[in-house]
Amino acid sequence: MTRTLRGLAALALGTALLGCSEPDPQPDPEVEPVAVAGGAPAGLQAFDTVYAVLTHPRCMNCHPAGDRPLQFDDSRSHALNVQRGPDDRGRVGMRCTTCHQQANHDSPHLPPGSPVWRLAPKAQAFEGRSPRELALQLSDPEQTHMTFEELVAHVRDDALVGWGWAPGPGRAPVPVAREEFVAAFKAWVAAEAPIPEEGSK
Ligand code: HEC
Ligand code: HEC
Repeated sequence: MTRTLRGLAALALGTALLGCSEPDPQPDPEVEPVAVAGGAPAGLQAFDTVYAVLTHPRCMNCHPAGDRPLQFDDSRSHALNVQRGPDDRGRVGMRCTTCHQQANHDSPHLPPGSPVWRLAPKAQAFEGRSPRELALQLSDPEQTHMTFEELVAHVRDDALVGWGWAPGPGRAPVPVAREEFVAAFKAWVAAEAPIPEEGSK
């Protein structure tokens, strides 16, 4: 069964549960995608917005394809030879949280902060992915460990994602509003997560 079908089956189950007395699990109406008019073309259009955000430097710099974080708007390799390390949190002696605290500082060029600053696992890299590759990756349970509903909740609620809109002095936030991005993510999922053609965009 494809992941899309499983996602839809889970959706249908969640909807069925609404009608009976069993209180748990309740689908979260804020997360549950509702079907969009327009089907795949509308879904593909929504994915353009999703892709633009995921590959923005504020997001991509923590989702590199290699073993080093990236920094600045040109996504160059992180200074001081900072490495991913065995658990995506840096090597011994160069742990991310040695420099990156719980919150941003008030002046530019200091390490930005957010709870548990770390790199996304390599399987969740956004760097160097075409729209088609990234859509396939987000649909592949071998690479993402989240269902589509969990992905929607993650982009809506996660603190590291939120940092992209509050990156501290001297860094440009993601230019698309977070609500718009979450709505686009939901619309893509609701259109059964269509995959862009190779060479599109
Ligand atoms: C400080 C580093 C950091 C930043 C900045 C960051 N992320 Fe992430 N991201 C992570 C980590 C770590 C994970 C893995 C989370 C987990 O396993 O719970 C992740 C996971 C994700 C996932 C799930 C991917 C998958 O396939 O399962 C999405 C989607 C995502 N991030 C979106 C974003 C977006 C959008 C932004 C920018 C607005 C962003 N991230 C910025 C560290 C970061
Ligand atoms: C020795 C201190 C130090 C360590 C260790 C360190 N960083 Fe940084 N990091 C910094 C500083 C300082 C900046 C800000 C540079 C600036 O803005 O001029 C920064 C910036 C960043 C940025 C820039 C965001 C952007 O969009 O420009 C990311 C992402 C990042 N670090 C991730 C990490 C990760 C992930 C780790 C652990 C694997 C890590 N860093 C370890 C000091 C450190």
